[in-house]
Amino acid sequence: MTEGSVRKAVFPVAGLGTRFLPATKAIPKELLPVLDRPVLQWVVEEAREAGIEEFIFVTARGKEAIADHFDAHPPLEETLATKGKDALLAAVRAASIPAGKAVFVRQDAPKGLGHAIACAREAVGDEPFAVLLPDMLMRARPGCLAGMMRLHERTGGGIIAVEQVPREEVFKYGVVALDESSGEAMRITGMVEKPPVEEAPSDFIISGRYILPAEIFSHLEQTAPGAGGEIQITDAMQRAIDAGEPYHAYHFTGETYDCGGKTGFLMANIAFGLADAEIREDLAAFMRGMLPE
Ligand code: G1P
Repeated sequence: MTEGSVRKAVFPVAGLGTRFLPATKAIPKELLPVLDRPVLQWVVEEAREAGIEEFIFVTARGKEAIADHFDAHPPLEETLATKGKDALLAAVRAASIPAGKAVFVRQDAPKGLGHAIACAREAVGDEPFAVLLPDMLMRARPGCLAGMMRLHERTGGGIIAVEQVPREEVFKYGVVALDESSGEAMRITGMVEKPPVEEAPSDFIISGRYILPAEIFSHLEQTAPGAGGEIQITDAMQRAIDAGEPYHAYHFTGETYDCGGKTGFLMANIAFGLADAEIREDLAAFMRGMLPE
């Protein structure tokens, strides 16, 4: 079992973003903005806050703008500096990932989340790593991944963020079975990807944040296509559990916005807007005006 601190994070960003067409015809869906920064930047910031030092993006054709977004931009920075726009300059600089710390690997075909993560194998090497699904925008203090890191220091092994949803919604997610007698750090006894509601083992869903031991890569190699005909990380984690590897649930109770769909994306914009001191009042007044008397 590989242990030690988690320094690297994988961001699967190869998806086509069909639910946002035509907005995503030329722009990667991960770069659509929530308030003043791309969804993906919020998620990278969550990882950075948790101590992640190396950022591995699993990308695809047409996603080149993601690399540009996280790169330094000397001409823009110079212009902002000359004009004395210090706050904007700081915001632009804060969006960059330090040189050499962003890694881009390609997924050659949309064969599933498990396949995307397997594409990061060489970049991750033989150490535990985090996976953050950028569709899921999670807001909490400390951030979700930071909380998971603390649990990982105690338990080692795999950590999966879970949250409770109404039972009728579980079919859209991976669902875990928990040993609820195992205390605050709940041991995961099994999991299933997108089960029919009546077969779901609980109402705790996998919410898009993982800490995985490097052993997951050999399980992924053995994992056949599952739900949706895709190679599922959920199935590979089930194999790890079957092999006796410990996996624990981190019960996330902050806010989650599923920015993979229009409703969650708009809700995220409203929530982040209402939390922003500069625009809160105007936005709230507008929203009150939109409501029926
Ligand atoms: C993926 C995972 C699923 C998880 C979900 C969270 O599914 O396979 O286990 O619950 O993300 O968003 P997807 O949304 O890619 O279908």
